[in-house]
Amino acid sequence: DEPSAAAAVPQAGDPGLVLLRRIGTVDPASLDDYRAQGGYAALRRAFELGPAGVIREVTDSGLLGRGGAAFPTGRKWQATAARPEQPHYLVCNADESEPGTFKDRVLMEGDPYALIEAMTIAGYAIGAHRGYLYLRGEYPRALHRLRHALARCRTRGLLGEDVLGQGYAFDIEIRRGAGAYICGEETALFNSLEGHRGEPRSKPPFPVERGLFGKPTAPNNVETLVNVLPVLGMGASSYAALGTGSSTGTKLYCVSGTVRRPGVYELPFGATLDELLDLAGCERERLRAVLLGGAAGGFVRPDELDLPLTFEGTRAAGTALGSGVVLVLDESVPLPLVLLRIAEFFRDESCGQCVPCRVGTVRQEEALRRIAERAGSDPHGTADDITLLRDVGQAMRDASICGLGQTAWNAVESALDRLGAYA
Ligand code: NAI
Ligand code: SF4
Repeated sequence: DEPSAAAAVPQAGDPGLVLLRRIGTVDPASLDDYRAQGGYAALRRAFELGPAGVIREVTDSGLLGRGGAAFPTGRKWQATAARPEQPHYLVCNADESEPGTFKDRVLMEGDPYALIEAMTIAGYAIGAHRGYLYLRGEYPRALHRLRHALARCRTRGLLGEDVLGQGYAFDIEIRRGAGAYICGEETALFNSLEGHRGEPRSKPPFPVERGLFGKPTAPNNVETLVNVLPVLGMGASSYAALGTGSSTGTKLYCVSGTVRRPGVYELPFGATLDELLDLAGCERERLRAVLLGGAAGGFVRPDELDLPLTFEGTRAAGTALGSGVVLVLDESVPLPLVLLRIAEFFRDESCGQCVPCRVGTVRQEEALRRIAERAGSDPHGTADDITLLRDVGQAMRDASICGLGQTAWNAVESALDRLGAYA
């Protein structure tokens, strides 16, 4: 068994927390403790509202998906619920694999009943009677705690044929991933659940129309689902008052790298990167850059730390919030080797289904390796390789089937354009 990631949460018990408020205070093995700390009040409210009322609340709350793409959750649920084909499925994407991302792990290990309650509400809203929880294979503690919690919920009438005596049938099955990053892409995840190779499908059709087993499906990230509890708990308008007009609520950030207090932090949208780095203990004098949004994201320079952390603000600044990765690099970290490591990762994790990504990720890694090995000794060779990187990167972005290939060059491009890497 590995150490619990929940131990890395620096502000457990802080009264300002919304998503992390029970982490470190609730006993993750005790349903009674969960209920004593407010658990299952949101599901009761969901039954009072009815499926359409729940979708209305979630839509009015402005909740955006927290997996990285920020798609409106209410719209996704409405589109799934409206499809005439049956059955409908709920899929919780817990295959958290973006390098530097570990927030969902903290939620699942520290507050497993919250995810189960939230999945039950989501299933009810979209008209599903079955939910799948696709869990990253490297999360054994989360698996153990979720399995235990599911069994308790079944024996206490919170899952099964008649949830809370309301005539609604719902159950959840856990499936474990096997270490492939691409299986976090929603359609590759469906293929994996169906027993096929984990290769992405072309979109459209989107999963809301044709998803798991070809049926209407709502795929949601763990953090997105857990947000539904405060949405119903405090009501859509109070929830929407948190954060900014376009990015409502709070966000979990996974802070790692050269900081004194790495861990998961929760802040309302609109807090600045500077404020977050203060909490994590970052030495500004030695700061080289911050990689926001993960390997597919972009770099922020030390002179840009007043950046408000919102989906719209980071996009406008040429980077991305993604799933909340905040990777801090000080001057001791060799940037060319970081970029090479990112390129190796994408080459390794490409499923190989389409040419631009299969070949492009190899060419990108080769060029970055040549540049790193030259270490500035041949500026003309490096200039040629940068031209090649830009051509290959554009081809991957334009012609790859899925997000992996489309974003595999983001961090390298950002390092070139925003940090002046290799100049
Ligand atoms: P996407 O933009 O294609 O879709 C986002 C969601 O909205 C999907 O569920 C999609 O089905 C739905 N959607 C989009 N347009 C729709 C429409 N017109 N009608 C109905 N539904 C629609 O993005 P994608 O490829 O699903 O996710 C990319 C993101 O994933 C990246 O931003 C990246 O940061 C993140 N990511 C997160 C990881 C993690 O570990 N959390 C790992 C890898 C990537
Ligand atoms: Fe596979 Fe890459 Fe194509 Fe995605 S872009 S389908 S990961 S080869």
